[in-house]
Amino acid sequence: MDLVRNTGDFARTLSNARRRGDDVGIVPTMGALHAGHRSLIDRAVAERAHVAVSIFVNPLQFGDAGDLDRYPRSLEADLAVCAEAGVDTVFAPTVAEMYPAAPATTVSVQGVSEPWEGVSRPGHFDGVATVVAKLFAMAGECAAYFGEKDFQQLAVVRRMVADLSIPVRVVACPTVREPDGLALSSRNVLLSPEQRRAATVLWRALSAGGEAVEGGEDRPEAVARVMASVVGSEPLVRLHYAAAVDASDLSVPRSLRDVGSVHLLVAGEVGPVRLIDNREAVAPPLAGATGERRTRAGGVPAPAG
Ligand code: PAF
Repeated sequence: MDLVRNTGDFARTLSNARRRGDDVGIVPTMGALHAGHRSLIDRAVAERAHVAVSIFVNPLQFGDAGDLDRYPRSLEADLAVCAEAGVDTVFAPTVAEMYPAAPATTVSVQGVSEPWEGVSRPGHFDGVATVVAKLFAMAGECAAYFGEKDFQQLAVVRRMVADLSIPVRVVACPTVREPDGLALSSRNVLLSPEQRRAATVLWRALSAGGEAVEGGEDRPEAVARVMASVVGSEPLVRLHYAAAVDASDLSVPRSLRDVGSVHLLVAGEVGPVRLIDNREAVAPPLAGATGERRTRAGGVPAPAG
C-alpha cells in the first residue's frame, strides 16, 4: 500500500492505475476509521481493481474551530485498517497541501444543501462540495463510495456530480449500526458512557417514525412530531430537527403519499457532539393500487447506483 501526501502524486497514481487497465474506486474520509468506513472500503475493494482512501480533516466544512480541534485523528491506526483491507493507495495530505491559499473558488450546491444540516451548519456543505470536487478532479474517472449515514451529503455530492458532469459514479452504502441501533460515527468516541446510551434515542425516534409511516400516517408533520417526542423523552439530547422528506430532493411534501421514496431525518446534540441519522420509510400501498410506483411530486430524480 502506498501512502501519498501530495496532490500531484495522488492524481498520477490513479491515472497510472487506469492506464494499466485498472478500474479505480475511491473512498473519501476524514479518518478515525471505524466499521462504517471499513464497510465502504471492503465494498470498494470487492468491486474495483485499484482502491484509494483519502484521509483529510477538511477545515472548510467545520463551522467552529472547537469542533475542528476536537475531531478525532488517528492516522497510524487508519493506515493499519486500510492495509488490512487491501487498499492500494492512501492519500493523506496536509491542510497546506490541499489549500496552499484560502480557495477563491468554492462549490455551492443550491437547493438540496439548504435545509436541515444546511440550516444547523451554515457553510458546511460548501466545504464538503469544494473538497469533494477537488478530490474528484484529482482522481479522474472512478467510482466513489459514500455512506448513507450522511444522507444529505450524499444528495449534495450526487447533485454536484450531475450538474458539473463529473465522470464519477457515486456508490451509496448502507449505514452500519451498533447492536442497539446507534449509527457508527467518528464522533461517537467523544461521548461519555451516559451520553453514548442517550444517543440511541435518535435510532428509536427513526424507528417510531418508520412505524408511523408504515402504519399509514401520510402527514409529514405528524411523523416529525412522533420522532420529536421520542427525542424529547431523553433529557441528555437536544433535538435540532426531525423530518419526513421526499428522498429525491429532501423537501417536505404535502403528503407522504405524493412521493416515490420517503426518508426520515433526525439530528440532535448530545453533550459536546452533534449527531445525525436517517432511514428510509415505506408507506403501505394505496388501497386499490396496482403495485405501480407513485409519481414523484417533482425535484431531482434520485440517480441509480
Ligand atoms: O463524510 C466525510 O467524512 C466528509 O464529509 C468527506 C466526504 C470526506 C469530505 O470531507
